[in-house]
Amino acid sequence: MPKKTIPSTRDKKPLKSAKKKALKIQKAKTANARETTEVLLSAQKIYKPSREILKNANVKDYEKTLKTAAKNPEKFWEEAAKDITWFKTWDKVLDKSNKPFYKWFIGAKTNLAYNALDRHIEAGIGGRTAILWEDETGRTRKYTYLELFKEVNKFVNALKNLGVKKGNRVAIYLPNIPETAISMLACAKIGAMHSVVYAGYSAMALADRIRDASAKILITADGSFRRGKIVDLKSIADKAVKECKSVKRVVVVKNNNQKVEFDKKRDVWYHDLIKNQRTEAKTAKMDSEDPAFVLYTSGTTAKPKGIIHAVGGYMVGVLRTIKWVFDLHGKEVFWCTADPGWITGHSYIIYGPLLAGITTLMYEGVPDMPKPDRIWRIIEKYKVNILYTAPTLIRAMAKYGNEWPAKHKMKSLRILGSVGEPLNPEAWRWYYEFVGKNRCPIMDTWWQTETGMHMITPLPSAPLKAGSVTKPFPGIIADIVDKDGKKVKAGKGGYLVILNQWPSMARTIFNNPDRYVKTYWQEMPGFYASGDIAFKDKDGFFWIQGRGDDVLKIAGHRIGTAEVESAFIRHKAVVEAGVIGVPDPVKGEVIKAFLILRRGFTGSDELKKELLLTVRRALGPVAVIGDIAFVDQLPKTRSGKIMRRVLKARELGLPEGDTSALVS
Ligand code: WT7
Repeated sequence: MPKKTIPSTRDKKPLKSAKKKALKIQKAKTANARETTEVLLSAQKIYKPSREILKNANVKDYEKTLKTAAKNPEKFWEEAAKDITWFKTWDKVLDKSNKPFYKWFIGAKTNLAYNALDRHIEAGIGGRTAILWEDETGRTRKYTYLELFKEVNKFVNALKNLGVKKGNRVAIYLPNIPETAISMLACAKIGAMHSVVYAGYSAMALADRIRDASAKILITADGSFRRGKIVDLKSIADKAVKECKSVKRVVVVKNNNQKVEFDKKRDVWYHDLIKNQRTEAKTAKMDSEDPAFVLYTSGTTAKPKGIIHAVGGYMVGVLRTIKWVFDLHGKEVFWCTADPGWITGHSYIIYGPLLAGITTLMYEGVPDMPKPDRIWRIIEKYKVNILYTAPTLIRAMAKYGNEWPAKHKMKSLRILGSVGEPLNPEAWRWYYEFVGKNRCPIMDTWWQTETGMHMITPLPSAPLKAGSVTKPFPGIIADIVDKDGKKVKAGKGGYLVILNQWPSMARTIFNNPDRYVKTYWQEMPGFYASGDIAFKDKDGFFWIQGRGDDVLKIAGHRIGTAEVESAFIRHKAVVEAGVIGVPDPVKGEVIKAFLILRRGFTGSDELKKELLLTVRRALGPVAVIGDIAFVDQLPKTRSGKIMRRVLKARELGLPEGDTSALVS
């Protein structure tokens, strides 16, 4: 539901008075100036690593490591690849013969699940805890590596019985439960591609993703608990599957014992399926370049992109980054608060921790239930060593007050992490002082679904600045350029690009290689265009300013303006929609929609409610609408493209920039 709505301006009430508008503009300008000053001030203060951290760090000499890797990134990644077990090693590290379709570790054979499980059993650490799980209601479960290995093998055999083969797509629509990890690993062991869809997406969004990948199996659950309420996953899944011919069977995990509709021919309970399965299973010998999985993410059109990652390179990138960024030594309890439905969950809840042989904590629920200290309580209870979370959550927790983290012993914490959107200096300092008690370095990690792994991030032995993602990870070369691809000076904003290749880079967009080339490689040939804008300060530290394209980051979740606009247009009252992101103190940004209504419709509060429901039905609760305004026209180019940039500038009272293309 909307937190704040302004009255409709079209039919009943006149436009806001000039005075009010002037005040709003003044406010936005002040906020902007304050933010800029804050960034400038924090650009000066450096937080040095403590002796405690340096003593045992995997990377002790940060500067030297950066320099050595920069001299020969390919060699750096080849070295990193030795942390993985390969059935056959590579003939060549990097193949650039078909740009931008780069290939890594050519000719090598391996398997993701084998590296995440089997090899740890073989190394004699099968008794170590792999997964700790707790849900909002307080239920808990625990799996050792050996137990997880057996569960995965049972499910491998079960999926094979259902006809799943190497290269097939399996859709996973599950909450944050151990079966999500088991399902993903089982697919990896077979060599089938999983497509995990965040359980907060609507039936329509799920159906779109299943159809694009033509998945033949869907794995879901009866339901989940969230904020004390039941989320009815099975009925959402049923609705989606109705629209998807490719799905032959639906596997249902019993998670919250809720009564569900069951189609006996199509549906099968997970627990029935694995009952008599053997605890041994064959491992598919995957080519390094075979696709590991597909993961859908939002772009600048209404159709999400199926990002493909490759088995060998993905593993190398994820293992090296998790080990170095969070300084792992093998025994850590690691808590990443993301969801497995996002790349953060893939790389740093499931694959990263398991590849590294540490303990990953999965929590199915919200961080402030039943009280605002649930998150700190969990850290104390499980003696979490590394907390990896998002700016939205940090800001929401800070709002509850310092007394909540203060109630808990969090001495186990050693390193903190952040990801998903810019962590503003103020929130950075709160996290540092009240969660890390001034002794845990914060790893603000910049990366994307497409990059698979951390790209710009400090290491624990690196100097930090509050609000900066600091410098590229060793073996990564990043820079800021203008629209012609020319490097810009320190302090000047521009497009964030990656100049070299890295093993866990996306390989393509599922069924759409042209879109892959167009989106990331065409505008500035030779560089990977991230879509973000950022600047580098005089010390070479990167400061991310946000997306430079029509992609929004709502509470760290990625959503395209075009997706939201086409959701609005589904409603018969809406002729045209223009959507922008506006700053929000907790969520980073929320959506503001400008809608032109069809003749005969009035912009009433009732209609607003209906419209919100329409968007929610199309996209799920991910799309947080902060505000709807009914307008008579939208700023457009001659070719009819909505100029969202102009809408945004007007909304925030900022200069409109180059408006030569504007016609209305
Ligand atoms: C976009 C990628 C892969 C992480 C989860 C989100 C923004 C990500 C940071 C950060 C500022 C960040 C960027 C990026 N972003 N991390 N540390 N500081 N912005 O993955 O959904 O693919 O979104 O998230 O805008 O392009 P994603």
